[in-house]
Amino acid sequence: MATKALWGDGRLCYGGDWNPEQWPPRVWREDVDLMRAAGVNLVTVGVFAWSRLEPTPGRYTFDWLDEVLDLLHGGGIRVALATPTASPPPWFSLRHPDALPVTADGTRLQHGSRDTYCAAAPAYRTAARGIADALAARYADHPALALWHVHNEYGTICHCPHTEAAFRRWLTDRHGDLTALNDAWATSFWSQHYTDWAQVGAPRATQYLANPGHLLDFRRFWSDTLLSAYTEQRDLLRAANPAIPITTNYVLGDWVPVDHARWAREVDLVAVDHYPSATDLGAEEQTALAADLARGWARHGRGRPAPWLLMESAPNQIHTAGRMHTKEPGRMTRHGLAHVARGSAGVMFFQWRAPAGGAERFHSAVVTHAGADTRVFREATDLGAALGRLAGTAPGRVEASVAIAYDAASAWALRHPGMPRAGLDHTAEVTAAHRALWHAGITVDVVPPGDPLDGCRLLVLPALYLASDATVDWVRRHVHGGGHLLVTWLSGVADEHARIRLGGYPGAYRDLLGVRVEEFHPLADDERLPLTGGGTGTIWSETVRLAGAEPVTAYLGGGLTDQPAVTRHRIGDARAWYVSTRPDDDTWRRLLAEAARLAGVTPACPGAPPGVEAVRRRDGEHGRLYLLNHTDQPQRVPATGWELLTGAPVDGLLTMPPGGVAVLCEQLH
Ligand code: GLA
Repeated sequence: MATKALWGDGRLCYGGDWNPEQWPPRVWREDVDLMRAAGVNLVTVGVFAWSRLEPTPGRYTFDWLDEVLDLLHGGGIRVALATPTASPPPWFSLRHPDALPVTADGTRLQHGSRDTYCAAAPAYRTAARGIADALAARYADHPALALWHVHNEYGTICHCPHTEAAFRRWLTDRHGDLTALNDAWATSFWSQHYTDWAQVGAPRATQYLANPGHLLDFRRFWSDTLLSAYTEQRDLLRAANPAIPITTNYVLGDWVPVDHARWAREVDLVAVDHYPSATDLGAEEQTALAADLARGWARHGRGRPAPWLLMESAPNQIHTAGRMHTKEPGRMTRHGLAHVARGSAGVMFFQWRAPAGGAERFHSAVVTHAGADTRVFREATDLGAALGRLAGTAPGRVEASVAIAYDAASAWALRHPGMPRAGLDHTAEVTAAHRALWHAGITVDVVPPGDPLDGCRLLVLPALYLASDATVDWVRRHVHGGGHLLVTWLSGVADEHARIRLGGYPGAYRDLLGVRVEEFHPLADDERLPLTGGGTGTIWSETVRLAGAEPVTAYLGGGLTDQPAVTRHRIGDARAWYVSTRPDDDTWRRLLAEAARLAGVTPACPGAPPGVEAVRRRDGEHGRLYLLNHTDQPQRVPATGWELLTGAPVDGLLTMPPGGVAVLCEQLH
């Protein structure tokens, strides 16, 4: 279904969140004219409009939304109609105080912002279904409707009695009985053995270190609870008109208590919001990672490559580290096309028109507080035109033959208290490996453990702490099928319940890697351990004993001089690398590029100069080479084809302006 049902004609989606409930009808008409001028074809409407749609319980006021949808339809703009359940109205909170969320320390949060609900509270679920049902009944057949956008960024958490009751039910399903639960949570430690389900609660604030199995299961349970809040709305909407695709927008960050890979099968189109926190080249690295994650989830959900959608991004300023920073001229188009290069079905902004008041009054928008006679609006119009030029051409699959595994549960588990070092972070390790490969010009798939690895020549596991037996089998099958493997410290140390796999680290992969780790030696934040070959190790070091592998790099210092830091194990034609520290960025790039080279992987555009990002999408013999010049200098890139944005032929060499973008139509063999 997904984008085909959205457009059916190969157009890319372009638009963003629009909040007509904040404006009088005169502004609606002006907005639709401006949208048309900018090339907008899809807007999200109604995300936070619950109090305007249901001002008192059960009384619906749809007249304004009728007018808005008709107006958009008349303007040829389609609608991602949201259910407004991320922001219950004041009457709801007053009427159902038991549905307000409770933090881990027992504080009940009050109305005043958004997301003040507990997703396990029956009253919230009933009210959410009620408004979703009413919207479905009224708009499921509206000709402007292209997509249902359920809720907004599911990601809140709660510890109230409703939650605890639901948690116990979830645990019963997962573990069967208390014997299994006690075993999974290793409750013989510190006298935590449970003898009655009533003793099991949410992990509240406690005296000292909490139980890791308990913390991990609570995260999993909560992700499933939010998912069920989504699926029950989805099922209502689907019943009203099965032809309309349904999604919800994911928010990225490993603080979010949602395992997006598990959600991917439940949405018709994976949709992500992305706001890079870095201001420089780091923003481009983050963009590439977010897009590769989204593509991985989209493929995971459908069992084959599938489009996904950048549902929110900032047209201009982004709030970073306490201040807003500006997206420099030209960056909007480059950012937008960076997502399209990696599989997005379009570019959507948060938000269309800047609000005159409210909490996010200074968030950037396409139509700013200064109006539409602005640089931002002109750039948005340019981007709309560029997306228009890419329409109708076969988009092709993103070409990648390296995969990095990302696992939400490992990210949660590494953050548990009582680890050998503070600040251990699976997401940061995935980011570092992805960044190193990005700088080496190598396109990467980011995949959940267990995903098919067809075409993957090198699988990278960065601090993939948890390994179920199924994950171990998955890695083993990849290597025995001839795939190369690179595993970093702390991968495979624990099982899916966060219990340590015994016999020496990394218990899950020792034999594949031909090593046995006896001891960890975490490094201080400012510590750098020299390595042979010139680099340094950071964060972590280990006593690595060889058990079949050969040493590649050794430590120089830290009591580990001449002991292996990086090793390689030959298995048939494949190699299995073990990296027992986090190399500095340069060393990491060289090491990963070498592992990729030995696995037969080449960059998408081998001659591209540093700072020029290249991603190829391929459809049989037809290629689309996306080139993004992130530098402030003109760059010359070896390339041949037909440039789609300018319509000019390119014969052997393309000169790109500073900050420029090109999409080359190539004939491949
Ligand atoms: C998220 C939300 C939006 C808005 C933006 C601000 O992505 O979905 O409602 O709050 O962040 O960046």
